[in-house]
Amino acid sequence: MKDTATGLTKGAQLIPNGMLDDNAPRNMWWCAAHVDEITDKPLARWLLENPVVLYRLSDGTPVALDDRCPHRWAPLSEGKVIDDQIVCPYHGMEFGADGICTKVPTQTSVPNSARVQSYPLRTSGAFVWIWMGDPEAIDHDPVDMGFTTDPGWSVITGYMEVQANWVLIRENVLDLTHIAFLHANTFQQDDWENAPEVHMEGDTIVYEQDFPPSPLSPLFCAAFGFEDKHIVKREQRGWMPSLAVSFSDWNIHDISAELGKRRDFIGRGAHIVTPGERGKTHYFFVASFDSPNAPVALLEKTKAGVISAFQEDKDLLEKIQAQVSRDPRGLDFPEINLGADGAGVAVRRVLKRKLEAERRA
Ligand code: FES
Ligand SMILES: [Fe+2]
Repeated sequence: MKDTATGLTKGAQLIPNGMLDDNAPRNMWWCAAHVDEITDKPLARWLLENPVVLYRLSDGTPVALDDRCPHRWAPLSEGKVIDDQIVCPYHGMEFGADGICTKVPTQTSVPNSARVQSYPLRTSGAFVWIWMGDPEAIDHDPVDMGFTTDPGWSVITGYMEVQANWVLIRENVLDLTHIAFLHANTFQQDDWENAPEVHMEGDTIVYEQDFPPSPLSPLFCAAFGFEDKHIVKREQRGWMPSLAVSFSDWNIHDISAELGKRRDFIGRGAHIVTPGERGKTHYFFVASFDSPNAPVALLEKTKAGVISAFQEDKDLLEKIQAQVSRDPRGLDFPEINLGADGAGVAVRRVLKRKLEAERRA
C-alpha cells in the first residue's frame, strides 16, 4: 500500500524511508559529479533514475542533458562534443547546451520537437550540482562546499557506487553509534557508544557530542600530525543542511600540546549522496583538515584508511538492500527505533516533508 501524500510504500516503518521506491525529491540540488569528472568528453551518469550526459563547453560551462537522443534513442554520451554541440553517434543530429537540436544532417529543416531536456547545473566547491525538478522552483543555492577548494584546507575526495538506496547511506552517516561496532577495527573510536544530542536548526539536522580525553582514531592521527593513539579531547558536531549533503566536524583539542604549539584542529567529513538507477547510489565523500598543503603521501594513506571504513558501511548496506528487496515481506517487517536513532528519524521526517510538498505542488 502507498502513502497517498508521499507515494512511498507503507509498511511497518513508523515513517517510511522508501528504500524500495523512487524516493528522491526533485526540487533540490543533488551532486552530479566532481568538477574534474566533467570535461569536453561526454560523461554518462544515471541521476535520479534518469540517464544524463554531462560535458563542458569550450568556455568551461558544464552542461547536463537527457542522455537519450529523441530520434532513435541513442545515448548522446556515446557521441562527441564538436564546437559546443553534442553530436549523436547514430545519425549525427546535433544539440546545443539548451537541448535544442541545431542540425539534422539529412535535411535542411529541424523539427520543432527535436530537443532533449536540459538540466540546470551549478558549481559549489569541488562539486557540480544538478536540479532535476521544476526549474521555476529553484529558490536556493547548492550547499556551500567552499572549504573543498580553500587552499587553507587539505582535502581528500573520493567516490563509491553503492548498490543500495541513497536513504540508507544518508541515515547511516547520521547514525554514529554504529562506529564502535561496525568500524571497531578501522575507526577504533570505541568510546562512541552513547547517542549524541540531536536538534533541528530550521530544516537542518544538527548533532553534537563532547568526549573526554581519549585516543584519537588511527584513521586521523597521521593527518593531524599525531602519533598513533594520541590522547585528545573531541567535540563532534555534524549537520545535514540538505538530504544531499551532511557534514561531520571532528573538533580536536590536543591537551598535551607544548606551550606555543597548535592545540585546536578541525577534521571535516562531508557525505554526499545522489540517487542513481533504482537501488543504486553515487556516494561522493570528503575528508579534510584545516591545515594547508598536507603531503600527498599522507593524504593518500588517510584516504586508504577512510575508504576501508566506508567499505564496511557499503558492504553492510548492500546486504540490507539486497535482502529487503528479495524478501517478499519487503518493508512489511517490524522495525524498532532506539533512543540513538534521533538523527536517522529526523532524516525520514525531512524526506517525508519534502516529498509531501512536491506532491502538493
Ligand atoms: S538516434 Fe540520434 S540521430 Fe538518430
Ligand atoms: Fe559507518
